[in-house]
Amino acid sequence: MSLARNAGAARPAELDGPLLRVDDLRMYFPITEGLVFEHHVGDVRAVDGVSFELRRGETLGLVGESGCGKSTTGRAIVRLYRPTSGRIEFDGVDITTLGGDQLRRMRRRMQMVFQDPYSSLNPRMNVAGIVGEPLEIHKIGTPHERRERVRELLGVVGLNPEFGVRYPHEFSGGQRQRIGVARALAVNPELIVADEPISALDVSIQAQIINLLERLQDKLGLTYLFIAHDLSVVRHISDRTAVMYLGRIVELAPSRDLNQAPLHPYTVALLSAIPIPDPAVESRRRRIILRGDVPSPANPPSGCRFHTRCWLRERLGNPERCTVEDPQLRELSAGHAVACHFAEEVDGSPEQRQSAGQGGASAAVAPSWAPAGNPRSAAPAAQGA
Ligand SMILES: Nc1ncnc2c1ncn2[C@@H]1O[C@H](COP(=O)(O)OP(=O)(O)OP(=O)(O)O)[C@@H](O)[C@H]1O
Ligand code: SF4
Ligand SMILES: [Mg+2]
Repeated sequence: MSLARNAGAARPAELDGPLLRVDDLRMYFPITEGLVFEHHVGDVRAVDGVSFELRRGETLGLVGESGCGKSTTGRAIVRLYRPTSGRIEFDGVDITTLGGDQLRRMRRRMQMVFQDPYSSLNPRMNVAGIVGEPLEIHKIGTPHERRERVRELLGVVGLNPEFGVRYPHEFSGGQRQRIGVARALAVNPELIVADEPISALDVSIQAQIINLLERLQDKLGLTYLFIAHDLSVVRHISDRTAVMYLGRIVELAPSRDLNQAPLHPYTVALLSAIPIPDPAVESRRRRIILRGDVPSPANPPSGCRFHTRCWLRERLGNPERCTVEDPQLRELSAGHAVACHFAEEVDGSPEQRQSAGQGGASAAVAPSWAPAGNPRSAAPAAQGA
């Protein structure tokens, strides 16, 4: 039961394919009406055609506003949900419809870390019980070996191995999240889906958990799908970043490219909401305020789903194409894909440069969507998660 099972192990050439392949994943939740005779009146299209690959040892950040389908994507991947359609391949095996024992065996290899370390740990179990539970479920080791393993795991996540006898309420938020990570590691997984693992923590503790996850990745060869609503969080930990809007990925790129030269108007808006630590640059930047709320995933807009809030569409004179034709993800440069008919207009634009903290605003380039007065005083809809 060595923790370092995956670390740096030489792999046969055929295993160099992606660890995870997600193809046109859809997860719809039915909407029903009627108390006695329920009938199906529609669907919440929480995830509506998501495709991406995750390489072994890689971290992919998944970001977007609240309700855009991030958690549902993560939960479908680890098969807490049975997808409506599409395909999920883990290590070359189609797991989309796996059930029973086969699914249980596969689940050992992918685990989730949840956002809220308060509600995700059973308050009536002590820490040894919580961390050791997956070992019992999967019938791994003898009781003595399991106890030893729990001690080892607590040490690995930076907790005192003697803490096993304590209960969750005796720990701080950061410590509880460490317990959640230890539990996820118990069965030696290869993939960890971390669903907003630091959102509920104090800022000072967030960095500790990020550092812990990075250290564990190096040590154990883990692959992460790291979900967050804030681009500033994922850019530090992710090799690549995928931006979601209303159930779709609208931009996917190496994190550096996405942050320095975003190509989707939505990504530009999200980036423009992140403060830059240089006061001189920051004072010249303008935040892009997205109008209105995110439309309902039960009734997404026609054509490009972002067209009801898109600043670029407005600037281009509201081209009809945006409302009638659904833009597909297309690769504009190596590994940088974007779902916008007019992404070339974003490239090199003042909005793109400002969002990335390059160049300043002048009257000539001040966009029509910029708020009057202090440009950074209004709460951005784009940051509303
Ligand atoms: N079990 C469910 N039944 C019905 N609708 C659901 C269910 N789970 C999620 N949804 C809906 O699916 C959409 C996507 O939800 P999801 O939780 O995946 O979003 P999210 O991006 O993780 O948001 P957040 O940042 O708030 O966590 C939302 O409209 C949500 O209300
Ligand atoms: S396709 Fe049109 S509406 Fe959609 S993001 Fe591009 S410019 Fe905006
Ligand atoms: Mg969520």
